Amino acid sequence: MFRKEIYTARRAKLKQTTGSGLLLFLGNNESGMNYADNTYHFRQDSTFLYFFGLAYAGLNAVIDIDHDKEIIFGDELTMDAIVWMGIQPTLREKGENAGITDIRPSAAIADYLKSAVQGKQTIHYLPVYRAEHQVKLLTWLDIYPGAEKPSLPFILGVVNQRNYKSAEEIAEIDKACIVTADMHLTAMRMVRPGIRESEVAAAVAEVAYSNNYQLSFPIIATINGQTLHNHYHGNLIKSGDMLLLDAGAETEMGYAGDMSSTIPADSQFTTRQKEIYDIAVASHEAAVNAIRPGILFEEVYDLSARVIMEGLKDLGFVKGDPSEAVRAGAHALFFPCGLGHMMGLDVHDMENLGEVYVGYDGRPKSTQFGRKSLRLGRKLEPGFVLTIEPGIYFIPELIDLWRSRQEFAEFINYEKVATYKDFSGIRNEEDYLITETGSRLLGKKIPLHTNEVEALR
Ligand code: GLY
Ligand code: MN
Repeated sequence: MFRKEIYTARRAKLKQTTGSGLLLFLGNNESGMNYADNTYHFRQDSTFLYFFGLAYAGLNAVIDIDHDKEIIFGDELTMDAIVWMGIQPTLREKGENAGITDIRPSAAIADYLKSAVQGKQTIHYLPVYRAEHQVKLLTWLDIYPGAEKPSLPFILGVVNQRNYKSAEEIAEIDKACIVTADMHLTAMRMVRPGIRESEVAAAVAEVAYSNNYQLSFPIIATINGQTLHNHYHGNLIKSGDMLLLDAGAETEMGYAGDMSSTIPADSQFTTRQKEIYDIAVASHEAAVNAIRPGILFEEVYDLSARVIMEGLKDLGFVKGDPSEAVRAGAHALFFPCGLGHMMGLDVHDMENLGEVYVGYDGRPKSTQFGRKSLRLGRKLEPGFVLTIEPGIYFIPELIDLWRSRQEFAEFINYEKVATYKDFSGIRNEEDYLITETGSRLLGKKIPLHTNEVEALR
């Protein structure tokens, strides 16, 4: 945990911006995988972590702005829990660490909320993403699953704090990114024909676990990188393949790293691979050079897509004007995802609170295929932490569909594209902090250019 003064100050600011009512923080519980005692790795809710810092299951909290109270609701461990799962600080100690002295039993929250409702207080809560949150809202507030009405002032208050990373948060994210970089360096040194994707995934995970870190999301280690989030690890890596690795570490305090690299199975990229890879790198570097305070990230996305289309035009995949092709949405055949996203306590930071608020400052998102997957489009500001991850993907099913419809036939040379249906995909990803004057790479550099990757092989 950070110092308790940090959590106290964060809560004070949130109270000020939300103004009135009662803020309800739903902590996370343990969750059984296949029976109650065989649980998933416990992960506290990130907003709960941000304002209270307590990574323990079974806690909930209230900030009653109207009555100037901050309360943590929880129960002491039973002797059975201590015998099986070990000791934890007492509730009083947990509260002290978070700067909170008002600690009450879990069961007391129902009556507290009931009186608040009777007193006509506004109960603010955030969007739910777990069934257990829905059960709590149903039990305490009679809100049926699906009928939740999350509080916009609460969402905006949280987003407007968590989007701006403080020095101590940046230090944590740097730590996550250093281990994340080591995960990728490990893979770059070991990938070769004849080993399985699962061996790479295991070695990558070991780097995180041996640092006592977690994974910030399930590892993607695949020779079928054309599937954007491919979590299958059962293939044998063959000569001529590329392995797309997208993996990140999460520090003990819950901060994420998120990087991607594309590694040839052989000691060198083939000419065909290098031609496409170099375009992805050009797009990546154009984006990195563009990010600074004041620039609209959606413009950086346009730039990165244009560089991809220009490069693919030089190779004969694309025709016409690359800028017009991007405006029309034709680039989404090769680049059907976004350029990057906010990162912090969540790998896609605060995605549960709504991308429109986190990444678009309330501006509606595009509904165009490809562009709609851009999670971040707003003007960049100092303190934002984000990823840069353009990619070039040859997705056979998408190519076949678009070809059959002659979609954007004025921009796409389908004859040529069809010959690359077995190419797979390329993505490289780094994490950046927006500074007062530009940006700074977080963690440490991993090889990006083909010669840098090949030097490790
Ligand atoms: N690293 C997974 C993603 O950014 O979607
Ligand atoms: Mn990412």
